[in-house]
Amino acid sequence: MASGMRCSAGHGGHGRRLAVVLALLAALASSRRHGASAAAELEGSGPKWHVVSARSLLPSTTCTAAKAAPDTSAVRVVHRHGPCSPLQARGHAPSHEEILERDQDRVDSIRRRIAGAPAISDVARAPEGVSLPAYLGTSAGTTNYIMTVGLGTPARNLSVEIDTGSDLSWVQCDPCARCYGQQDPLFDPARSSTYSAVPCGAPECRELDPQSCAADRECRYEVIYDDYSHADGTVARDALTLAASRTLPSFVFGCGHDDAGLFGKVDGLFGLGRGKMSLPSQAATKYGAGFSYCLPSSPSAEGYLAFGVGAAPANTQFTEMARGPETWSYYLNLVGVKVAGREIGIPPAVFATGGTIIDSGTVITRLPPRAYAALRSAFVRSMASYRRAPALSLLDTCYNFTGQTRVKIPSVDLVFAGGTTVNLNARGVLYVSTVSQTCLGFATTGDETSVNILGNTQQKTFTVVYDVAKQRIGFGAKGCN
Ligand SMILES: *[C@@H]1O[C@H](CO)[C@@H](O)[C@H](O)[C@H]1NC(C)=O
Ligand SMILES: *[C@@H]1O[C@H](CO)[C@@H](O)[C@H](O)[C@H]1NC(C)=O
Repeated sequence: MASGMRCSAGHGGHGRRLAVVLALLAALASSRRHGASAAAELEGSGPKWHVVSARSLLPSTTCTAAKAAPDTSAVRVVHRHGPCSPLQARGHAPSHEEILERDQDRVDSIRRRIAGAPAISDVARAPEGVSLPAYLGTSAGTTNYIMTVGLGTPARNLSVEIDTGSDLSWVQCDPCARCYGQQDPLFDPARSSTYSAVPCGAPECRELDPQSCAADRECRYEVIYDDYSHADGTVARDALTLAASRTLPSFVFGCGHDDAGLFGKVDGLFGLGRGKMSLPSQAATKYGAGFSYCLPSSPSAEGYLAFGVGAAPANTQFTEMARGPETWSYYLNLVGVKVAGREIGIPPAVFATGGTIIDSGTVITRLPPRAYAALRSAFVRSMASYRRAPALSLLDTCYNFTGQTRVKIPSVDLVFAGGTTVNLNARGVLYVSTVSQTCLGFATTGDETSVNILGNTQQKTFTVVYDVAKQRIGFGAKGCN
């Protein structure tokens, strides 16, 4: 995401506080791929129907370890609120309604940022005399995929959220004037022999805001989210250990001293965005420009994040990255949708109007109203033999599978420019609250000009390859269980 950073000549309320605005958010997974996910009627790029055991749609209470990490360079990625999470305080998992409400907040934030409207938080803070760029943060609260990395020397293990909608990474640091309560002890810079503050005037500080750094002081950052969450601190460097064979000796991140908001118990947030400060951008010179991740099928399964794209699975189908009106999101050209192998009959221009981004932090894919209506009609026709259930927040097409052993649902394909057709996993078609309330996992953008978003429900189990060097995005089926 776009970010600005200013050095402060004097910390505290005045002076030019550095401002970085990051995006945040969202996630949730629901089900589980196990059991009878037998596919019927193989044809073309994938099955036209999914036959799944109704019970297997719900996450298990025990963690199923990944069958095999793609290679030693991968970091394990898990859902914050499931049995695979390293956070013990997961009893406070938000309800599905809360998750979906926060998801809509994230989507609204993304839309405002793309539209260039002033952030609520910018307006709120302006009277304090703080000069902030008109960047928009995305409301915090549902960026629920976390990874564990080692920071410093000796390395301290920290559990952090990952977000393609953010650039600057940050962790909470000791001493902390005002931090939210995290599970692990705070990262203590004094105990790391490789830690250093980034001086004002260093390119990393300056490049984000040319006006900053008048005085020879520490470079500070401030991340402001749309929902009044914020993270403030010192820009620093330290050794980052991602995996056994992946270390960055001089990783630039934010050492937070004043953070509040919907961050839960995590130790920080790592940005996977397109900007120069993001983790993949910093890793690019060493490992190549690009990264991939696989979001697990459910909170009781494991996925991964890997840097460099050399090891993209052989079955990866690529589509070109597209240009969008801003530089912090990853755009692609969605041109069509198929249900049970049939086009829903919406012209590509309908999808092109608002453009399409892929976001790790948005839960539910948003489609233009006409496209969503056509998808829903086709889906409802295919599901005529099942009992309907009440709507679940923004999901208006739900079913009651109580008493069903197996359910047969139509496949959904996303078609991208160049003909790349991605056949979604059954868990990418449905959003499962309970067996008696399982919904079509898509929603409308609300108007024809808003950006479409490919959300994380639909990305689950695919290896999603962000091949920045070749400017393309790939999807490899069966990337993780
Ligand atoms: C950090 O995590 C790694 C990988 O899970 C583990 O091997 C190592 O022992 C951990 N280190 C500490 C200090 O807990
Ligand atoms: C689902 O169906 C069962 C069995 O008919 C019924 O008892 C239950 O109330 C229904 N639940 C919902 C959410 O519709």
